[in-house]
Amino acid sequence: VKTTVSVIKADVGSFPGHSRTHPKILEAAARRLKEAEGNLIIDSYVTHCGDDLELIMTHTRGEDDEEIHRLAWDIFMECAGIAREMKLYGAGQDLLGDSFSGNVKGMGPGVAEMEFEERGSDPVLIFMADKTEPGAWNYFLYKIFADPFNTSGLVIDPSLHEGFIFEVHDVMEKRRIRFSTPEESYSLLAYIGAPSRYVIKYVWKKNGIIAASTSTQRLSLIAGRYVGKDDPVMIIRAQSGFPAVGEVLDPFRTPILVAGWMRGSHHGPFMPVGVCDANCTQFDGPPRVICLGFQVCNGRLIGPADMFDDPAFDGVRLQCCELSNMMRAHGPFEPHRLSLSEMEYTTLPAVEKEFKDRWEDIPK
Ligand code: 13P
Ligand code: 13P
Ligand code: MG
Ligand code: MG
Ligand code: MG
Ligand code: MG
Repeated sequence: VKTTVSVIKADVGSFPGHSRTHPKILEAAARRLKEAEGNLIIDSYVTHCGDDLELIMTHTRGEDDEEIHRLAWDIFMECAGIAREMKLYGAGQDLLGDSFSGNVKGMGPGVAEMEFEERGSDPVLIFMADKTEPGAWNYFLYKIFADPFNTSGLVIDPSLHEGFIFEVHDVMEKRRIRFSTPEESYSLLAYIGAPSRYVIKYVWKKNGIIAASTSTQRLSLIAGRYVGKDDPVMIIRAQSGFPAVGEVLDPFRTPILVAGWMRGSHHGPFMPVGVCDANCTQFDGPPRVICLGFQVCNGRLIGPADMFDDPAFDGVRLQCCELSNMMRAHGPFEPHRLSLSEMEYTTLPAVEKEFKDRWEDIPK
């Protein structure tokens, strides 16, 4: 029987402002999942990254299971109620639908799931981000599964030599395409280098075995208005035919710039932190990522290990602080502020609307 790992997340309200979830919300979510263990799900773990509530579940029901999605939706609704009682900020923020209809996709929550036959030992890493968008994973997934300067296993381990298949989603046109690496690496990069539109959804081994799965939901495209950032999650399997745990983590030593941060409208450095530091403070950020490591054992989650709670990542954190100073110095100027095409999905168009009748043609 196959094991499914489901990571379903939503911002149901936070304090103060958009900085973190409230302990009462984490407790309520954990209690509800515990109650479901033994019938609907096998095991669970609840955490947060910034203001996003993260539900990690294991079960045997496969991806897109109605009952699993309903459980997550019900928990988010209950937690949004707790947030409302405390007048937390943005209570119910990511819950865009009013009634559940079979699947949380398209309703606001982010979803990453994968179903697999457990190996003799199955290390699984779960990444959770705040104040950024799903395309933020693109760079890291490429480095992990396609860059031999990152993943030495691609060169020295015969079980990785054949490469991987990447499924890319065009989130604007709602279409998908698959690329095979290393043969089509350059073509893959032509798309995923534009992460606001082209997002890696899955990575597989060439025999079809799942290696990575991400959440690709774009809130503004669902809601048609600004509702914060999507704050994505990602599941990656490691070792024995996949990159080693350390090969999966090492790309996060590079401080790349991602879209999100304040008002979802700025580029800023993506900072890997331990769970105790997963609170977005400085200019509502900078964008952060945590990683929990588990061994999956007959559907049970052995762990977690807090993977970025390691002084080896202090260097990138310091670099992120320096980059943050550099980007912040731009104030309201690009490239700190997102490009105009991306600002379409923020609150800027409301400002432009005020002035639309004040514009005159420039005389010849
Ligand atoms: P150990 O000798 O610590 O088990 O390390 C093995 C390994 O392959 C690390 O990448
Ligand atoms: P979230 O998507 O994390 O709620 O961020 C919204 C925001 O506007 C932060 O400044
Ligand atoms: Mg929020
Ligand atoms: Mg448990
Ligand atoms: Mg958030
Ligand atoms: Mg958000």
